[in-house]
Amino acid sequence: MPLLAIETSCDDTCAAVLDGPVVLSNVISSQAEHERYGGVVPEVASRHHLELTGPVVQAALDEAGMGLDGIDSVAVTAGPGLIGALLVGLSTAKAIAAPRRLPLIPADHLHGHVAANFLEPEPLEPPFLCLVASGGHTLLAGVTDHEGFEVLGETLDDAAGEAIDKAARMLGLGFPGGPRIERLAEDGDPDAFTFPVAMTRDPGLNFSFSGLKTALVYICRDLGDEGVADRAADLAAGFQAAVVEQLVSKVKRALDRGDWPAVALGGGVAANGPLRAAVRDLCDQRGIQFKEVRRELCTDNAAMIGSAARFSQPLAYPDYLGFDAFATGPRGSR
Ligand code: KG4
Ligand code: ZN
Repeated sequence: MPLLAIETSCDDTCAAVLDGPVVLSNVISSQAEHERYGGVVPEVASRHHLELTGPVVQAALDEAGMGLDGIDSVAVTAGPGLIGALLVGLSTAKAIAAPRRLPLIPADHLHGHVAANFLEPEPLEPPFLCLVASGGHTLLAGVTDHEGFEVLGETLDDAAGEAIDKAARMLGLGFPGGPRIERLAEDGDPDAFTFPVAMTRDPGLNFSFSGLKTALVYICRDLGDEGVADRAADLAAGFQAAVVEQLVSKVKRALDRGDWPAVALGGGVAANGPLRAAVRDLCDQRGIQFKEVRRELCTDNAAMIGSAARFSQPLAYPDYLGFDAFATGPRGSR
């Protein structure tokens, strides 16, 4: 029987219906209101989730061709994320599940990004290495089963997407920055400016993006407003190349250290074309599989939460009525 999944951890209101690993619908409503603030405003996000969860859940059911009576469990992101935003999704899930006495399955958002790779078509089976890079997280996950993952390395400061969004803001591109930086970088020369590629000499698998961001601040200061506008494409290309190089160098190092037969990606930054191309090349060189998950399953979505829920602990009615969301800490990882 189908499962309804809800994801509201940040600024996207998402609902999906899954039948096992098959996605019957996957509806995403992105909140455009944050653009004028240059980033996600938590209070604004929560209020919009309140308005959008009802219609988005209805749209997911309509697209799947069923009503709530056709659902046998409700999955929801429990964390990590913005607490007010998470609570809207959790309360909605409880309100749908409780009157019907359906089980509720709390899922971990990061497990969701990994679990997007378990979905049809061509689901990937563990073991594999998964690079999760989003606006809130950047980590390398060692995935040996469906139930969780081991954090092999993570960012010590900014997430890759967070750094990209800040760079986009400095270049006057608006929010979210990733797709705009990618588009602008196509017309730029990545070698026109020198950006530091952090952590490549560090022997571990951790990441750091704050130095890169600071480098851009200084370059922009030296160029002045007009200079930045003139050279925006070169700046975008150089910045993006430095982010990609750091991410790929850590994937390479993780492959040197472990016997991983496949590499997968997750998180919004995994939608980036040059990153995908670089990881694909690396996998080709090593003769291992590169699992290319569809872009709409990389950025935040509820299908990935439904996928994680298939391998998470369901809570029976009424045990979940007092269940709380959590803002930080990878509760679902080991
Ligand atoms: O996973 P996600 O949708 O939400 C979080 O959990 O954070 O990731 C959003 C992040 C944003 O920082 C956005 O700028 C970045 O993913 N992003 C991209 C691209 N598309 C989205 N970064 C680089 N290239 C892209 N094409
Ligand atoms: Zn995410």
